[in-house]
Amino acid sequence: MASDAPAAAGRITPAALLARKGKEPIVCLTAYTYPIARLLDPHVDLLLVGDSVAMVLHGHPNTLGATMDMMVAHGQAVMRGSSRACVVVDMPAGSYEDTVENAVASASRIMRETGCDAVKLEGGVAIAAQIAAIVAIGIPVMGHIGLLPQSVEKEGGYKIKGRSEANAEALYADARAVEASGAFSVVIEGTVEPVAAEITRRIRIPTVGIGASPACDGQVLVTDDAIGLTVDRVPKFVKEYAHLRDVVTDAAAAYARDVRSRAFPGPEHLFSLTKDKA
Ligand code: KIV
Repeated sequence: MASDAPAAAGRITPAALLARKGKEPIVCLTAYTYPIARLLDPHVDLLLVGDSVAMVLHGHPNTLGATMDMMVAHGQAVMRGSSRACVVVDMPAGSYEDTVENAVASASRIMRETGCDAVKLEGGVAIAAQIAAIVAIGIPVMGHIGLLPQSVEKEGGYKIKGRSEANAEALYADARAVEASGAFSVVIEGTVEPVAAEITRRIRIPTVGIGASPACDGQVLVTDDAIGLTVDRVPKFVKEYAHLRDVVTDAAAAYARDVRSRAFPGPEHLFSLTKDKA
């Protein structure tokens, strides 16, 4: 298929996003495919190839189903479909937590094979050494603190963070660790509003909230949630900006009716013996 995507005029860089701290909010959505990247690219600052792809597109029960091969393939598709937004690819569970060497090798592979702008890792104090080592070899890192979907089995479910003073203190320490390790920004997920706002005040890198606070320096949503395509439970923190479930259902039903009644294909969809265009 020929591409009429605009020629790359230079992407928004991680450094440019870092400079947005406390200024114009950073707009971020997930993207996993070429067409969605094409549609979102003019509107957002950052496209996140989230490991949520394992659930949203591949039907896994949680993000632990994401693999390096999966993240690389979707990262490549999103890079092909975008030319303006900063593209960040998630490092899947198991690719960075155990050793600094593994983290550096995994981040290097993602960068080399996708050409993306940065990687994202989940955790704070516990993975500060991994973030610092990846940054040290020149790969920009986005952190991710608060509710960590990759820890769902360890935690026995998705638990909102920051409700106790001790937990809030742990989150402040995580945020400081991510900042001190050289990350250019940090996602705060599933965290009570005052704590997310306080983290945003306390650190000098931009925070990007999801189920966090309007005070964050930017916001991110899973695109399928935001466009109403999610077929399972829609989380409380999601605002649906469209209802594509209904659009897809209605289109499929109309197509089925047309095929069964032989209304489709119509004369305008058929090729005659004379030359005509496909
Ligand atoms: O995987 C993902 O989509 C994410 C966002 C929810 C922040 O990490």
